[in-house]
Amino acid sequence: MYVPGWPGLKPGYFFGVPSTNGLPFPLNAQNKTYFYVARSGIYHLVRALGFQNGDTVLMPDYHSGVEVWAVRAAGARVRYYHINRNMEPDLDELRQLSRSNPRALFLIHYLGWPQPMKELMALCRERDMILIEDCALALLSEVDGQPLGSFGDYAIFCLYKTLPVPNGGLLVQNKTVLPALSSMNLKRCDWVSVVGRSAELMVEWMRGRSEPVGNALAWAKRAGGRALTALGVNRLPVGDISPDFRSPGYDVTKLNIGMSPLCMAMMTRFDYEAIRHKRRRNYSLMQEMLASRVPLGRKELPPGVCPLFFPLLVPDKRAAARALRERGVAAVELWNYGFPEAKGEEGRDARFLRDHVLELPIHQDVTPSQVEYVADQVLSLGLNF
Ligand SMILES: Cc1ncc(COP(=O)(O)O)c(C=O)c1O
Repeated sequence: MYVPGWPGLKPGYFFGVPSTNGLPFPLNAQNKTYFYVARSGIYHLVRALGFQNGDTVLMPDYHSGVEVWAVRAAGARVRYYHINRNMEPDLDELRQLSRSNPRALFLIHYLGWPQPMKELMALCRERDMILIEDCALALLSEVDGQPLGSFGDYAIFCLYKTLPVPNGGLLVQNKTVLPALSSMNLKRCDWVSVVGRSAELMVEWMRGRSEPVGNALAWAKRAGGRALTALGVNRLPVGDISPDFRSPGYDVTKLNIGMSPLCMAMMTRFDYEAIRHKRRRNYSLMQEMLASRVPLGRKELPPGVCPLFFPLLVPDKRAAARALRERGVAAVELWNYGFPEAKGEEGRDARFLRDHVLELPIHQDVTPSQVEYVADQVLSLGLNF
């Protein structure tokens, strides 16, 4: 069995009729800018806010690296706060750090779970800090009926992590609207990158249904990719968080590229309620199957959360990911590295998470029998702690 890591792109999304249900937040937000990837939104936000060297942003020590890179590339200084094993900040530490007058607090809603917004918003009001919500992993999640990303002054989303679109980062301005962001002249992304990534997502869709056909298409796709590389045709990557900060994903000159119009058209055709429902169903089923082995203290799935993946704690991440991939499960090693400058500031819990969290797919294309298959592999391989 093959269990894909990403929700696949089914051909119907290219031609289907737009849904009559309307778009959910943040796609219906009043002030928004679509970029090719989310890092562009972070970079342009910090630039538009006019951060100079010395203006500080508080950022979590547990991060992908690319959000910190974008904030630093835009000219701000970063101070790190610690994230505990439950993927939450220590509010006392944040209070302490906020006394040094940072201009902004940058928070990440990990896996789709909300951070304590009441407390964090009160702290930002009290210390006059700008609140930036990083919802890269939290599209369609809510707390108390309010969408994540609608609390802070600004919010950033990675659309392509939850939805089967070939690219798309979104910056939302909830409060003070910055004119520089509303009138951006973004470049159109090249069609080869869009076609290439769409083809990958279609192959994923096919492999989840018929392995032989999907494998043949995957082989053809790889051969096509190699031919384009040999011809010197560059493609703009999506979600490049490799530790090599010289890779194409970290090219500042590529940060002014917009989301492709194809993504916008596709986004009118998705059933967002069904996406959230299936992710929640799969998460709960996986949790049930793994019973007492559920990691991170996140035993409950609170109402409104749209989980991005199932976090499995394993002693040896690399070996576990390899073993699962050999059995057809596209498991992903989450954030092995952060931004290099942050390493010295990293707390024990962030290190622990980097060493031990493996992502298991529970997205909307995963069927209940695939969830059972994944859980069976985890248990039979004895991968969990
Ligand atoms: C928490 C977080 N923020 C921001 C980003 C940047 O997203 P993008 O790769 O779309 O630029 C990522 C990417 O993985 C991320 O994990």
